[in-house]
Amino acid sequence: MPEFIHIQVQIAQHPSQKDLPDADRELIAAAIAAAEKAYAPYSLFQVGAGLRLSNGKLVYGSNQENASFPAGICAERTALHAAMSQFNEEKVMEMAVVVITGPQDRPVSPCGICRQALLEQERRQGGPIRLMMAVPDGPVYEVASAGHLLPMSFDGSFLRS
Ligand code: THU
Repeated sequence: MPEFIHIQVQIAQHPSQKDLPDADRELIAAAIAAAEKAYAPYSLFQVGAGLRLSNGKLVYGSNQENASFPAGICAERTALHAAMSQFNEEKVMEMAVVVITGPQDRPVSPCGICRQALLEQERRQGGPIRLMMAVPDGPVYEVASAGHLLPMSFDGSFLRS
């Protein structure tokens, strides 16, 4: 018999952002404002991300698409890379990601590449990024660490002996 590895992920489900503290609603509002600036003429799926740095600054991003589809970039990585390009000494404490188009009954969940990018940032800064996933008028899901969304993940430790 093999031994089994059990992986448990805790996702908090808030029925609405109304129940959240002001600072969280501020971050979600920033992500909604960012989503309004998305360039998504192909998918018509507008996503925004807002993150809070350890110096208190908020940084935003939205998805930016391209006629050559793979050249586009998601909101999460737009915000993350913008933040680290300007404030590379800071930590990313938390991020909100919001979709403002399409069905509003469940939050958007970061794609695999964004999960990998968020995990890299957690490793780089040596601390978790709290992640909220939301729709403006619906539930908010929350994980204490973005890495929780990527169990058995690959990271830089595999590259060194
Ligand atoms: N997208 C994001 O920006 N973030 C996500 O979490 C999911 C998907 C974007 C990529 C593409 O521009 C569009 O949404 C449809 O996939």
